[in-house]
Amino acid sequence: MRLLTAAVTSLALTLGAQAAVAAPVEIKFSHVVAENTPKGQMAIKFKELVDERLAGKVEVKVFPNSQLFGDNKVLEAMLLGDVQMAAPSLSKFQKYTKKLQIFDLPFLFKDMAAVEKFQNSADGQKLLGSLQKKGLVGLGYLHNGMKQLSASNALKVPSDAAGKKFRIMTSDVLHAQFEAVDAVPLKKPFSEVFTLLQTKAIDGQENTWSNIYSKKFFEVQPFITESNHGVLDYLVVTSAEFWMGLDDGLKAEIKSALDEAIKHGNNIAAEKAESDKQKIIDSKRSEVLSLTDAERSQWVEAMKPVWKKFEDQIGADLIKAAEASNN
Ligand code: SIN
Repeated sequence: MRLLTAAVTSLALTLGAQAAVAAPVEIKFSHVVAENTPKGQMAIKFKELVDERLAGKVEVKVFPNSQLFGDNKVLEAMLLGDVQMAAPSLSKFQKYTKKLQIFDLPFLFKDMAAVEKFQNSADGQKLLGSLQKKGLVGLGYLHNGMKQLSASNALKVPSDAAGKKFRIMTSDVLHAQFEAVDAVPLKKPFSEVFTLLQTKAIDGQENTWSNIYSKKFFEVQPFITESNHGVLDYLVVTSAEFWMGLDDGLKAEIKSALDEAIKHGNNIAAEKAESDKQKIIDSKRSEVLSLTDAERSQWVEAMKPVWKKFEDQIGADLIKAAEASNN
C-alpha cells in the first residue's frame, strides 16, 4: 500500500511538473489608447503573430484604453511583474531616464521621416538601452505621429495660447514648452483628457490626429491648429527581469513577431495621420487651421529656447545629431 501511495505521489508530481513546464509564458500588454490607433493595431497584430507562431508556448493578452493600467502606473506595475509589455509615449519616461526627453523638444524634427532616421541611427538605437539601469528594456520604437494643438479658441500665434490651460503628458520639457508661450500646462493622464476638455476644466491639449480622432477630442474642441510642433512616438518596453528570464530561442521569436507588428503599426500610423485628419475635417465639429510661414515662425521662436534649458540633461551632441536627421 505504501509502495502504491509513493508511486501515485511520484506520478502526480511528475505530471504536475510537466504541466508547470508546459504552461505558456503570459505577456500582458497594457496600453492607454483605443484599438483603432497605430498602437492599438500594433498590439493586436503582435498577439495574432504570437498566436500563429508560438501557440502553447506564449500567450499575449492585450488590455487597451487604460483598462489594466493608466499611463502613470504601468511602468511601476511592470517592475512589479504585474504586466510584461507596454508602449508608453516617449514623453512618459522622465522618471526613468532624462535622455528620452529629446523627443519632446519642440520643433526638433521637421517630419516623421526625420524621426525615423534619428531612431534608426546609432544614437537613436543607443537610447533604447537608456532604461537598463532602472530594470527596463527598450524593445523598439513605434510611431504615432506629429502633434497638433487643439483648443477652445483659435491658436494662430503664441499669444493666442497665453493664460490658457493645456493638458500635457508627464514631461518637464512639455511643461516648459507651454510656459514658453505663457500658457498653463497641467500634467494629466490620457484617460482624463476627454472629460477635462468636455467640462472645460482645461482649454486645450496637444496630440496626434489619430488620438484626437479616436478619443473624440475633436468633438469637444472647436479648433485644431495643424502645428506639427512635436512628435508623439512610443517605446515598446518590458522588464529586464521578465526578458532575461526567457530562453534565447523564445526571446528571438517574440522579438521577431514584435518587429513585424511594429512595422504594421508604423504603416497604420502613416495612414491614420492622413485619414483621421480628413475624418475630423469632414465631421465639421472642429475647424482645422493651418499656419502661414510667418505665424509658424513665431511659435518656433517662442518655443525653441526650451532646447537650451534641457541641453545638459539630454546632451548637446545628441540634440545636434537629432537635428541633423532633418537633412
Ligand atoms: C498615447 O498615445 O499613448 C497617449 C498619449 C497621451 O497621453 O497624450
